[in-house]
Amino acid sequence: MFVPGLIERKRDGGALTPGEWRELMRSYVAGAVPDYQMAALLMAGFLRGFTSEETAALLDAMMDSGSRLDISRPGRPVVDKHSTGGVGDKVSLALAPLVASCGLSVPMMSGRGLGHTGGTLDKLESIPGFRTDLPLDAVRRQVERIGCAMIGQTPEIAPADKRLYALRDVTATVECIPLIAASIMSKKLCEGLSGLVLDVKQGSGAFITDPERSRELAETMIRLGEQRGCHTVALLTAMDRPLGRACGNALETEEAIMALRGSGPQDLHDVTIALGVEMLVLAGERDHARAAARLEEAISSGKAAQKFQEIIEAQGGDPKVVEDPSLLPQAEEVEVYYAQRGGTVLAVEPRTIGHAIVEMGGGRHQVEDSVDHSVGFVITARPGQTVHASEPLASIFARDRDGIELGRRALDQAIRIGDGHPAPLPLIEARVTSKGHEPLV
Ligand code: URA
Repeated sequence: MFVPGLIERKRDGGALTPGEWRELMRSYVAGAVPDYQMAALLMAGFLRGFTSEETAALLDAMMDSGSRLDISRPGRPVVDKHSTGGVGDKVSLALAPLVASCGLSVPMMSGRGLGHTGGTLDKLESIPGFRTDLPLDAVRRQVERIGCAMIGQTPEIAPADKRLYALRDVTATVECIPLIAASIMSKKLCEGLSGLVLDVKQGSGAFITDPERSRELAETMIRLGEQRGCHTVALLTAMDRPLGRACGNALETEEAIMALRGSGPQDLHDVTIALGVEMLVLAGERDHARAAARLEEAISSGKAAQKFQEIIEAQGGDPKVVEDPSLLPQAEEVEVYYAQRGGTVLAVEPRTIGHAIVEMGGGRHQVEDSVDHSVGFVITARPGQTVHASEPLASIFARDRDGIELGRRALDQAIRIGDGHPAPLPLIEARVTSKGHEPLV
């Protein structure tokens, strides 16, 4: 196929046909289209847009680039959740075992860190020995046996997304509704789901910062899911500050473990339960309150934490981290960060935090970069809180003194203290389905 002609057409505002998208994805995955041509095409589409027919065609082409999962677990509906990405968003680590411990089948396929946001896979791989690259057949057997597997894009499922995701990360082509929607839905719809819950982030730390456009992203993904027979629901949740306190791979894994054991931060707990309720409802539970009670019981009884141990063990990791998170990688240097002045915390800017983690070695500049799992922040300051000068607001975890310096400068920028009255976004603003929006505040 003549790729420069396709790039030219997209550059000039035209559209590719479904056949062209299919052929392009097939050739890209086969290595016949180089990354530089794909990057040019993505950037042309990013700037000129994609029609809704193109978004659907791109999704189908990405799905067709690999195989599909076929889980057979009678009476145990197959459901999953995906987040559009944020800072401190470790919900998947707690939610997958939690929901699986309530009897659902959860073949969770996630991504790595992207741009300023962290990725579930990088967080899971902070667990010593944990493997996220299971062959599809092993995933199917694991889900049928214990109800859950937590894996990355494999060469078998949605291989086109695996390559495009990494390419977009390093070519400034992430923040685009059709590309995000096709990326997320291509992985998820190949899992053979009967239901999918989306956590669509809004606010300055989300890829799509404008709340109006977050809704458009949610609606786009819901339409794509429903058209392909997968009931899809979205919650619009806040990403104008980090979720929870921990930001950085191992630190977030530890916080997710705390949430599974019932001692995590309240906002993390609330978002996890709200998404879990939607998953149980998609799986047939009729009553939202009863769904919430089932999830709370799985946490308080220890069933959810135990399920996480089973998953870790099945995937080659050390299950003892659930009882003893100090077995996770530990940073060489730790320093407390204090308030420079008294006043009200006006903002804890997630994007600045996310970029700092990448700079400190906890994320990637290049596709092949390795990640230091131990670095990051634990930030206790929340927007709206009154603080005194010299009060501790955060801890910085780094591999050396330069990292601590970098972290300190990032916190100087990210945590703004003043005299105003901030208006943080509601933690969970709305529920979106194919029938419309339901405000939750
Ligand atoms: N998550 C994904 O899986 N893909 C994107 O493009 C953005 C967030």
